[in-house]
Amino acid sequence: MATIRIPAERTTLGEPAAVAAFLHRYHIDYERWAPDRPLSGESTADEVLAAYATEVDALKARGGYLTADVIDVKPDTPNLDTMLARFNREHWHDEDEVRFIVEGRGLFHVHPPDGPVFAIEVESGDLIRVPRGTQHWFDLCGERRIRAIRLFQDPSGWTPHYTESGVDRGFEPVCFGPAYVAHQPASQGYR
Ligand SMILES: [Fe+2]
Repeated sequence: MATIRIPAERTTLGEPAAVAAFLHRYHIDYERWAPDRPLSGESTADEVLAAYATEVDALKARGGYLTADVIDVKPDTPNLDTMLARFNREHWHDEDEVRFIVEGRGLFHVHPPDGPVFAIEVESGDLIRVPRGTQHWFDLCGERRIRAIRLFQDPSGWTPHYTESGVDRGFEPVCFGPAYVAHQPASQGYR
């Protein structure tokens, strides 16, 4: 289940309806998906796509996405730091960034034009759709592991356009996980 942190407001949201309602204000879709058959760490990309075919096909129809693939990032992935450095600075894309997290975790920061920067920590079972043009950046969590389904309207539209604002440097890419939210009052739920 995703967690939202809004550092400027010293607020953390962890309840699914509150997370979805908050993200809706910024036109970011959030859903929880469950596989229709068992998956394991050994499952192939095709098996992952098949297990979520109903949800993927519905999202394709709704958002005009033409292709779907599976990325698999592990701590020993070659050139991992180079790959991550493309996305951990504030940028935007000409198309939506659609990710369903199969395994692992990640941290999106979003910089809306009309509100404070907020962080979305996503984990297994979370679908997030960040609309084209949204200023954001992405980091892995400490375990540097993520397996995710990506949907594209046109993969070439996913090239990052950097804002070079430097805003990203003011935010620590720290993940906490759902246990942190469960044990902290909302007013203290960030660092
Ligand atoms: Fe991005």
